[in-house]
Amino acid sequence: MSETGSAAWHEPVMLGEVLSFLRPEGGKLILDATVGTGGHAEAILVRGGRLVGLDRDPEALELARRRLSRFGERTLLVHANFRNLREALSRLGIKQVDGVLFDLGISSLQLSRPARGFSFREEGPLDMRMDPGGPLTAAELVNRLPEEELARVLRQYGEERYARRIARAIARAREKAPIRSTTELARIVTHCYPPGRHRIHPATRTFQALRIAVNDELSALEEGLAQAIDVLRPGGVVCVLSFHSLEDRIVKNMFRRKAAQRNLEILTKKPLRPRPEEVERNPKARSAKLRAARVPEVALS
Ligand SMILES: C[S@@+](CC[C@H](N)C(=O)[O-])C[C@H]1O[C@@H](n2cnc3c(N)ncnc32)[C@H](O)[C@@H]1O
Repeated sequence: MSETGSAAWHEPVMLGEVLSFLRPEGGKLILDATVGTGGHAEAILVRGGRLVGLDRDPEALELARRRLSRFGERTLLVHANFRNLREALSRLGIKQVDGVLFDLGISSLQLSRPARGFSFREEGPLDMRMDPGGPLTAAELVNRLPEEELARVLRQYGEERYARRIARAIARAREKAPIRSTTELARIVTHCYPPGRHRIHPATRTFQALRIAVNDELSALEEGLAQAIDVLRPGGVVCVLSFHSLEDRIVKNMFRRKAAQRNLEILTKKPLRPRPEEVERNPKARSAKLRAARVPEVALS
């Protein structure tokens, strides 16, 4: 399969639902804050929208660039963290957009590259940076964070019930030699779980926690989402696809705060979930939650 081949492409989650909120037809300007390999973006462009796509991962952007090149000047792709989205837009001379999409988390591309260190199933370095130019790797956290702090990260960002036990096992293992690989860490974590079958792989929560910490994902979401709401024109819609409860809570609370200030109308009383047919086709969609909200056309009194 070639580099640009569809195996590396991420299947866009809840695409129909996202499009029905964003309604990109007629040249609407949509900011895709997490363009990834361009699945949602392509569908937005096919329907006649214009697109600014951001991603902090240059490898994903390069694939998106090739995939979306046929849309010519209707697409602009920028290497940026969405926590700086206002600045990224203002560099392009854009003050307002008609819609914003956040599709959070990592892409299939990132997960499929062992060298990026996101997957506990394949041997790779403990990296986990979405932007390989980022300052901190997972190896640094795993080998340098004091045990107590490590336990806090695992509990807070992974909601890991065995956080203390895992942090202790990591601290013991690294006394002998630094922990270098994804599979080595996964083995240490697995030994902290009671034997038997588990609903999810024992390393899932630890890897999620480290990834969130390495990429400072939750603060980026707080900042990026607030800016996204600010750059929406009246009537503009923001859609957020989240994949775990920590992200969803941030989105829910921000929407509620802005709605209470009459700056936003919530379009999804409860988050929408993917249809069973979609989950069957694409199991990665299973934990998705979609929330959408609109900036009022006229100031609400
Ligand atoms: C789930 S993928 C997006 C997939 C895309 N919607 C598609 O259909 O191909 C999430 C993307 O968001 C990017 N990302 C995550 N956090 C980001 C941030 N703070 N700023 C910019 N991009 C981010 C990741 O690098 C990844 O490529």
